[in-house]
Amino acid sequence: MGFAVAIDGPAASGKGTLARRIADTYGFHHLDTGLTYRAVANALLDAGAPLDDEEQAAAVAASLDFADLDRSVLSAHKIGEAASMVAVMPAVRAALVDAQRRFAAREPGAVLDGRDIGTVVCPDAPVKLFVTASPDIRAHRRFAEIEAAGNATSYDVVLDDLKKRDARDMRRADSPLRPSEDAHLLDTSEMDIEAAFLAAKRLIDAAYGAGNKT
Ligand code: C5P
Repeated sequence: MGFAVAIDGPAASGKGTLARRIADTYGFHHLDTGLTYRAVANALLDAGAPLDDEEQAAAVAASLDFADLDRSVLSAHKIGEAASMVAVMPAVRAALVDAQRRFAAREPGAVLDGRDIGTVVCPDAPVKLFVTASPDIRAHRRFAEIEAAGNATSYDVVLDDLKKRDARDMRRADSPLRPSEDAHLLDTSEMDIEAAFLAAKRLIDAAYGAGNKT
């Protein structure tokens, strides 16, 4: 069983950047679990299937190969929205969580980021981080990303979509977005990625070092 780092937080909180940085530093595997929900949503959209067809969505989830997740295709805004709709279905979550747990056990370690990593996927992870930032700051970051990719949108639309997605993710019955009791909170509203990384590194070094000595 490898060393697992669980990172949760809402959209555009900075958790993905932090997860990649930690994985690179420690030579750990990294899984952006949002991509797994996005891949299921994308397959349904491609097939012209309704997004609330739980049986079909669960079948797609069960046959998903994490090696095929293509961020450049799956990062589209509308796929994010669709992902949060398929993510409310328990059969979809069960299939994906199963595979995510296998990923989390990989040696020498794995960093997983998502919404339910510390609470459901890896409740025993030795390091759990919950990354937040104000809705306004997150919307500005997301707006800048969309503009940089050459797509047209307005800040108000981005903010409105983020708030809707937060609400859907926090209010769903199965595995809602929330910090686990033992998670360390990192608010990146006023903190740059370097400061967030250094805070995370201190926690990981303490737990990883201790684990390696036993
Ligand atoms: O993180 P990302 O924006 O790619 O996630 C897309 C959607 O997938 C989220 O809004 C959420 O509904 C769902 N998701 C989830 N559990 C995770 C990761 C993502 O429910 N662990």
